[in-house]
Amino acid sequence: MELFNPSELTQEQFERICKIVKGISGINLREGKEALVRARLLKRLRQLGLKDFNSYIDYISSPDGRQEIIHMVDAITTNKTSFFRESIHFEFLRKRVIKEIKGKRIRIWSAACSSGEEPYSIAISLMEELPNISSWDVKILATDISLEMLQKAKKGIYSFESVSNVPLELRQKYFDPMREGGYFQIKSKVKDLIHFAYLNLMDKWPMKGPFDVIFCRNVMIYFAKETQQELVGRFYNLLREGGYLFVGHSEGLVSIRHNFKYVRPATYIK
Ligand SMILES: C[S@@+](CC[C@H](N)C(=O)[O-])C[C@H]1O[C@@H](n2cnc3c(N)ncnc32)[C@H](O)[C@@H]1O
Repeated sequence: MELFNPSELTQEQFERICKIVKGISGINLREGKEALVRARLLKRLRQLGLKDFNSYIDYISSPDGRQEIIHMVDAITTNKTSFFRESIHFEFLRKRVIKEIKGKRIRIWSAACSSGEEPYSIAISLMEELPNISSWDVKILATDISLEMLQKAKKGIYSFESVSNVPLELRQKYFDPMREGGYFQIKSKVKDLIHFAYLNLMDKWPMKGPFDVIFCRNVMIYFAKETQQELVGRFYNLLREGGYLFVGHSEGLVSIRHNFKYVRPATYIK
């Protein structure tokens, strides 16, 4: 006799979940992700006191389960990030983009900011390059679909391990060591340059732009080609002439149609 295992995720259930996740977030869960989805959603199932994946799918498909969709996407997305990740973009920002700005207004969007390391690295780079930054009109918009990550980003508290790739001089200048050993808090002068907000890249965007730079790194890789193409077109419309799009170095725009000009790997100009 075959016993029913309540924590089993069947292929059919996995496919139904993939469809729901893709419809909401654009994330294309490929084959081979069954174990990850099962492990991460099993936690949600238990927290909600649901008996199996069918009950979970019924719940997220019901009006009562709307809120759960946010938690589900949260549980499934990969939030890996770090300070000054793909550091060449931050050097390019300092050495090229800032120099090209006419006037004293800078608008940058970190689209998929995860736990905040990317927008904080942008802010620190600007502060380093512009010692009189208070006389500039600088706004960094940092958005993500994950409420949990946004909460972390807003707090701006990072472990010693997370800040270990911030050069010591910058760490001393822009972070305060916390009394609870091993943690660092980003200084408010850095935080003040950033506005954190929930935004699903698949939805309508409330911002009008134009932006000087858009960072959309290491998220498009999870989207289907058509979704990437549409997104890149929307970024194009939101940038000023001469504005830059930075994507992850493992992404590139080679296989999609777009109007950007290639500058260097993972860097495009309108
Ligand atoms: C791997 S992290 C990348 C973080 C950062 N950009 C970097 O390169 O280090 C991907 C982020 O994309 C977010 N994400 C996934 N789908 C999204 C969507 N549809 N709209 C907005 N953010 C999304 C995830 O929540 C996650 O925080």
